[in-house]
Amino acid sequence: MSYGDYLDLDTLLDAQHPRAVPPQHDELLFIIQHQTSELWFKLVLHELRSARDLIARDELPLALKRLARVKHIQSTLAEQWTVLATLTPSEYAQFRRFLATSSGFQSLQYRCVEFLLGNKNADMVRVFDGRPAQQEQLEELLHQPSLWDVFLQLLARRGLAVPPELLDRDWSQPYAENERLVEVLAGVYADPEKHWDIYETCEELVDLEDNFQVWRFRHLKTVERIIGSAKGTGGSSGVPFLRRALSLTFFPELYAVRGRIAEGTIGHD
Ligand code: HEM
Repeated sequence: MSYGDYLDLDTLLDAQHPRAVPPQHDELLFIIQHQTSELWFKLVLHELRSARDLIARDELPLALKRLARVKHIQSTLAEQWTVLATLTPSEYAQFRRFLATSSGFQSLQYRCVEFLLGNKNADMVRVFDGRPAQQEQLEELLHQPSLWDVFLQLLARRGLAVPPELLDRDWSQPYAENERLVEVLAGVYADPEKHWDIYETCEELVDLEDNFQVWRFRHLKTVERIIGSAKGTGGSSGVPFLRRALSLTFFPELYAVRGRIAEGTIGHD
């Protein structure tokens, strides 16, 4: 078997189909930037699903290994925006209309990552109307516990007083911050040595969320420099829509507990 056979390069390298008529030099960059992102999303999903299942089986060290890899992929994805930033507004304008109404908003894998991390939103399933296989994939994740949900179940198995309503609920509903869970995490952060692997996992999750926000921010700033205040091809308000996503959080209690530490209400004998 050759290199090209193993990697199925004929398929991969034949999957770029610029649409502009007449052809526009910069459309290939636009396509490849999206395709490479989708390839990395595929690996992120693979690692996150595995991490979630490992946590459910109490295999925390291996789950942390998975999350470490995800963090490096996120760094690559964030760095990658510098390539697209070489696309000027006038260059993009030469092929934008050929995208019609297609938009990253319709990225199935991106939505799957969001659901796996806990940002559930049942309305997103409708984006894939007419595509039953995609809908089924998203629907399945919508109804499964997220990485955060299984982590809370692990905390409960370790004897921490996680509120019962967080341990068995309708997983398709958006996650809401829980004050009593902040108390539980406050206990972990007050004595890291006693709860080391839990404490370490919490910090890994904060890294993950932080990196996710960096991706959102870099996307927003790249979009802003390319289309300014124009609406998106997917029909949203564009930059204002993307800015709203910056207020989303996957693990709200991990941020709430930081406020408590900073205020000095925990962490001091
Ligand atoms: C010229 C480059 C780009 C522009 C102008 C752009 C613009 C936009 C806009 C305006 C939206 C909001 C939805 C809409 O109305 O279309 C959006 C969403 C999105 N874009 Fe991009 N984008 C660009 C590149 C990329 C790339 C390279 C990716 C990588 C996969 C990407 C992934 C996404 C995703 C996942 C969303 C949904 C975000 C969410 O719902 O929070 N975009 N994009």
